Amino acid sequence: MPITEAFSESLRAHPLYTWTVLGVVVLGIVSFFLLLFISAPYGRHVRPGWGPTLNAKALWVIMEAPSPISFAVVYFMSDNAFAVIPLILFGMFMLHYVYRSFIYPFRMRGGHKQEPLITGVLAFGFNTANGSTNAFAITELAPHLLQTSWMADPRFIVGMLVFATGYVINQHSDAILRNLRKPGESGYKIPCGGFYRWVSSPNYFGEIIEWTGFALAAWTVPAAVFAWFTAMNLVPRAFSNHRWYQEHFGDYPKERRAIIPFVL
Ligand SMILES: NC(=O)c1ccc[n+]([C@@H]2O[C@H](COP(=O)([O-])OP(=O)(O)OC[C@H]3O[C@@H](n4cnc5c(N)ncnc54)[C@H](OP(=O)(O)O)[C@@H]3O)[C@@H](O)[C@H]2O)c1
Repeated sequence: MPITEAFSESLRAHPLYTWTVLGVVVLGIVSFFLLLFISAPYGRHVRPGWGPTLNAKALWVIMEAPSPISFAVVYFMSDNAFAVIPLILFGMFMLHYVYRSFIYPFRMRGGHKQEPLITGVLAFGFNTANGSTNAFAITELAPHLLQTSWMADPRFIVGMLVFATGYVINQHSDAILRNLRKPGESGYKIPCGGFYRWVSSPNYFGEIIEWTGFALAAWTVPAAVFAWFTAMNLVPRAFSNHRWYQEHFGDYPKERRAIIPFVL
């Protein structure tokens, strides 16, 4: 079916869902171009002039929690919630987001940083839209996920492997960063080991791989849009981080790339 026809049909049947997915596509494009010129004001790029601030750990919970919560609420509204493959995809999403929302912020080291509320508000909106549209598509709009034969489909098998690879790279890279600081320290050091041998932001590289794998395994529009949005958000951020390292450390490894080993 041509894409315009599929869009009109989806708009007729599920207007809120369709507009929300389209909104995330547009947000991805806008974010990419904005973030190429303006570094999002959190972490090492935090700076005054972005309005009211909040404790960074609290902000992480507030902005990330809508993702697993909205996903779980919409997911369990469906009669298909206990089908095997949707349950596997539910597990993958929760594996990442329960950790990211409720555990990761409390493992971050760096003292009691204050960060602008605006970043949390924007992420809150994105995460609510992303979690709910993904759950709706997996349970209600993807007949292939209700047939166990999908488990033997190369898209599902390769997607699971890609997801697992991205997950390990993301977790391992975040652990290297965390261990750069002793409890109570807040400065920055040059990370080494793992994928840091090749790139400045391997945690972002892993995250993009992870959601690309999820998109392959789920084979739904919102999952593809999520992978696309993650890349649109994290590639420019990785460029900013890479520039930041080069400006702050004279001995920063010259061969290291920003986000994709040997390429970018
Ligand atoms: N799906 C998405 O669109 C999305 C968006 C954003 C983030 N994420 C994920 O969330 C996680 C964190 O993202 P982030 O942007 O906060 O990552 P980040 O900038 O790499 O920072 C991660 C943590 O490590 C600390 N850190 C970073 N570089 C350091 C260094 N050179 N020396 C010592 N400590 C250092 C940071 O401290 P400071 O806070 O003090 O800088 C922060 O606590 C990543 O896994 C990322 O993939 C996903």
